[in-house]
Amino acid sequence: MTTQSGIIVEAPHELFKVSSGIARPTPSGREVLVKTLTVGLNPVEPFQQHTGVLVDEWPAVLGSDFAGVVVDVGPDCSKLRPGDYVHGCASIGRNKYTPFQETFLADETTVLRKVSGLNAASAATVGSGLLTAALCLLAGTGLKLPKAGSKSPEKDEWIVVLGGSGTVGQFAVQIAHQCGYKVLASSSLSKTYLPAKNGATATFNNRAPIDEQVAAIKERTGGGKFARIFDTTAQGYELMLQALEGASTLDTKKYLASVDDWSDFNTPAAFHEYRAELGQLGRLQSPLGVEVTTAIASWIPDFEAHLEAGSLVPLEYDLAPGAGWEQVIASLGDLESGKSAKKIVVKIRDQ
Ligand SMILES: NC(=O)c1ccc[n+]([C@@H]2O[C@H](COP(=O)([O-])OP(=O)(O)OC[C@H]3O[C@@H](n4cnc5c(N)ncnc54)[C@H](OP(=O)(O)O)[C@@H]3O)[C@@H](O)[C@H]2O)c1
Repeated sequence: MTTQSGIIVEAPHELFKVSSGIARPTPSGREVLVKTLTVGLNPVEPFQQHTGVLVDEWPAVLGSDFAGVVVDVGPDCSKLRPGDYVHGCASIGRNKYTPFQETFLADETTVLRKVSGLNAASAATVGSGLLTAALCLLAGTGLKLPKAGSKSPEKDEWIVVLGGSGTVGQFAVQIAHQCGYKVLASSSLSKTYLPAKNGATATFNNRAPIDEQVAAIKERTGGGKFARIFDTTAQGYELMLQALEGASTLDTKKYLASVDDWSDFNTPAAFHEYRAELGQLGRLQSPLGVEVTTAIASWIPDFEAHLEAGSLVPLEYDLAPGAGWEQVIASLGDLESGKSAKKIVVKIRDQ
């Protein structure tokens, strides 16, 4: 067995630690072997470490967002070749497919080919945010992305994004904006520039009491001209309900979408509910895994074209001061302590 270095977690609640004894996988079918160049950190990694949820095997190798270079391809690959630069979100919780190791497997149909002009750090900010926002807005609320480089004509209708300053939220703002909606986004007061930079027309304070947030939503959407609300924070279900019930005045089908796929919801039948389950990406043994993976594969060419055209853009990030696995572990601590206001990315190697 060829081994490689990376980060393992021995069992739920155990610490992250560097190991040089991780098995190096071999690609089959349409899989490519990707050498990890940069990783983007997400709340799901500490969540998996602490709870063991969404982890298939122990010791576990974690990681989600990555930028890397293809070093080997399976026999059926037709899109990617060795030397191609790619980025995206891994099939999380499955050791062969996760980027906290020197090389890992990815399906060539669900990774993004890196476009010219994106560096590895920027590229590592894109995967989970873009794909989760797309699941909620394209699959969940029926939006259609326009052709790359163009923007749909502006509608007299708003979409409300709770958490427009976060990784998922910033891509949600971009997608809704490109689809021609006016976007009202919440954030903490110090971060309103982030949703604004991504295309939001207006913002409101995500820490105000819930009745004040409902009132702000009604007032800033021209008296309630919205039928779609997306909670990217996993803290906004009650607010979504109250906003649709008490502030939305459009006489049309109403949608709520959420990144919260673990809490009990009791959504009235009048509202269409959608919950993202990006963790199903690549899990082709389950019908939901097939649905999520197929949808994402169908959007990848459009996303690549939008990133090339600049009509979807990567996020602002904080690049960790050092490089390598020890730095990833230190930066996961920074993520948990809320030290960074932006997406944290860590370089593993240059090439
Ligand atoms: N189900 C899925 O498929 C899926 C996929 C990806 C992510 N997620 C989950 O989605 C959530 C967001 O992920 P992310 O990567 O976008 O995280 P992130 O970048 O840390 O963003 C978190 C967002 O939540 C807001 N927020 C934090 N505390 C809040 C509070 N008390 N009240 C209101 N808003 C608050 C933040 O706003 P400010 O910083 O401006 O206050 C920010 O906009 C996480 O729980 C993650 O695990 C789920």
